[in-house]
Amino acid sequence: MTVPTALAQATATRYVLPLREGGSLPGLVEASDDGTYVVKLTGAGQGPRVLVAEVIVSALAAALEVPTPRLVELDLPAPIARYEADEEVQDVLTASIGPNLGVDFLPGAFGYDGSRPPSASLAGRILWLDAFTANVDRSWSNPNLLVWHGQTWAIDHGAALYFHHSWPSRGVDPGRFAAQPYDAERHILRGPAGDLAGVDEACAALLTPSVLRAAVDAVPDAWLTPVADQPGLETVTDVRAAYVSMLLARLTDRTAWLPGPPSGPQAEGPADLARSQDARRRWTR
Ligand SMILES: Nc1ncnc2c1ncn2[C@@H]1O[C@H](COP(=O)(O)OP(=O)(O)O)[C@@H](O)[C@H]1O
Ligand SMILES: [Mg+2]
Repeated sequence: MTVPTALAQATATRYVLPLREGGSLPGLVEASDDGTYVVKLTGAGQGPRVLVAEVIVSALAAALEVPTPRLVELDLPAPIARYEADEEVQDVLTASIGPNLGVDFLPGAFGYDGSRPPSASLAGRILWLDAFTANVDRSWSNPNLLVWHGQTWAIDHGAALYFHHSWPSRGVDPGRFAAQPYDAERHILRGPAGDLAGVDEACAALLTPSVLRAAVDAVPDAWLTPVADQPGLETVTDVRAAYVSMLLARLTDRTAWLPGPPSGPQAEGPADLARSQDARRRWTR
């Protein structure tokens, strides 16, 4: 599996509407390549690091043959923000002029509800990926899985690799990330994934050093934030190397984070999904 080392580029031509479901105010956008994208905006509160996580983890998902939408670097020209009527949206668009992340829109996809679980192999690879990248954002109350053309698709990887949020204060510490445990008990695919012993070796073997490097190289320079006073983070090249060393360390020693077999009833289930959907409906009414 080859991972492309750069994102394709497109320019937004029309902001269609905000998708009110997500916490990061994603919106639907039409683009110069005739594509329709869910746009994740650089000006949306959490800043560009969440987009870095999206790009890297999406590339790793592709390498593990986990279905995930194609990503593009989506340029947002100033007039699109100027002509937006909704003030809240206009503010975020104005703060996001320039390169943003476009996630290929899957028309007619619906949210995963557990009624059509993926195969044990796919569920296992998704859980393994989330444990490897420390992504806690795939629970029953926040599934971040879509069902499209009968297949389970993984979306929304912005919460993964959260170590980069503490880089300015803590610096780069691959050993610490390698030793960080992962709690799989709330993961929405904990049941269908079963015992990960069967997929662990295969997943680890697919993520060769060159795949990890290609995944990191796919991130546009503009989203990589050097930290002037942290050794190993002083330039964009340093930041790329830091991501690779963090991932390599965690891949090499999987004892701390690899989930064991399911240990009894799950902490969350479909009732938590229904509750979170109700709550979301109340917020967005
Ligand atoms: N590629 C896509 N195709 C169709 N719908 C999508 C796509 N990406 C996101 N969505 C919809 O938008 C919602 C929010 O997107 P998500 O990536 O989870 O953003 P957030 O970071 O705000 O949670 C999803 O729950 C899903 O309903
Ligand atoms: Mg989400």
